[in-house]
Amino acid sequence: MSKVYDIGVLPGDGIGEEVVREALKVLDAIQSVHGFQTRRELMPYGAEHFLKTGETMPEAAFDRIRQLHAVLFGAIGDPRIEVGKLEFAIIAGMRHKLDLYVNLRPVKLYHESLCPLKGKQPKDIDILFLRENTEDAYAGVYGHTKKGTEHEIALQEMIYTRRGTERIIRHAFELAVKRGPKPGKDKPQVTLIDKANAVRAQDLWTRTFAEVAKQYPSVATDHAYIDAACMWMVKNPEWFDVCVTTNLFGDIITDLGAMLIGGMGIASSGNIHPGKVSMFEGIHGSAPKYKGTDKASPLATILAMGLMLDHIGQAEAAKALEATVEDLIRTGRIRSLRAGEHRCSELGSMVAEEFLTRARAQRR
Ligand code: IPM
Ligand code: MN
Repeated sequence: MSKVYDIGVLPGDGIGEEVVREALKVLDAIQSVHGFQTRRELMPYGAEHFLKTGETMPEAAFDRIRQLHAVLFGAIGDPRIEVGKLEFAIIAGMRHKLDLYVNLRPVKLYHESLCPLKGKQPKDIDILFLRENTEDAYAGVYGHTKKGTEHEIALQEMIYTRRGTERIIRHAFELAVKRGPKPGKDKPQVTLIDKANAVRAQDLWTRTFAEVAKQYPSVATDHAYIDAACMWMVKNPEWFDVCVTTNLFGDIITDLGAMLIGGMGIASSGNIHPGKVSMFEGIHGSAPKYKGTDKASPLATILAMGLMLDHIGQAEAAKALEATVEDLIRTGRIRSLRAGEHRCSELGSMVAEEFLTRARAQRR
């Protein structure tokens, strides 16, 4: 009996539908080669659903997701709806309610033509970002008083718990051990990125990192303040290996990271609770102006689907998918990731067909 996985499919808004459609096309090809199956459950949440029903994402949907293996997610955000409403209910909703405390964001360059930095090659840019995904300024503790007056006070708390800090840092060390040293290094490295010199509450991160690091003598450690880290990312991205950081800084620096590897069209992420149902998405937004135009790159969602495969226990398939995408880029068949350079549907078909071709060649 082949394995069957239950996958929630939540395309969401804007380009979400088309990029998810292409990722599922690729998943069909992968399943046929790797001999597993998926039962896909469409989840309609997003702007259209909200406008029709007044419902963002009901508790029942989270309960259902808890019974699945993973969720493949497109994007959320629609100009017709109040900023943040759906993002908070659906994206943050999943991250918080399913306790997806690891936001895994690989920043890996597949070909130098995709990098805007002079002289940087794939060997120079291979970073794994671990963004804490449930706390910090995203914890939802905020408010305004005297709103609309000249005495208005606005406040949003950056909340860090010892448990929340420790579990993401520990996960970073575990991944570093699993990944092993980068070429030319004798140890894998974890860099802590924070702003503990100004945000003194982040001293909790400093202390927790030091304590956890002691338990991983085979891993080298480094530290950078977020401002300096942004600078080094542009100047010397080769210095970074595994990086662990807070929720808000992780949000920002991974957009910078995305630009080093080809942009929002290729940057993928996993919202993960190790061993439990997790959610996978491109880090891009819903890009409403491209909705339905077949112009958006589905590669971010396709690669996120690869992270999903790795998470549910299909690591071989995940590796083969990444190698397929890498090869299409390296050989110039995927020329550029700029919107409109290739059709969305064309990229999905290319990856699916190439996956099958490579599998056939290996069988011979
Ligand atoms: C991301 C996004 C979200 C975030 C937004 C849409 C709330 O930018 O996943 O990076 O800030 O986490
Ligand atoms: Mn972001």
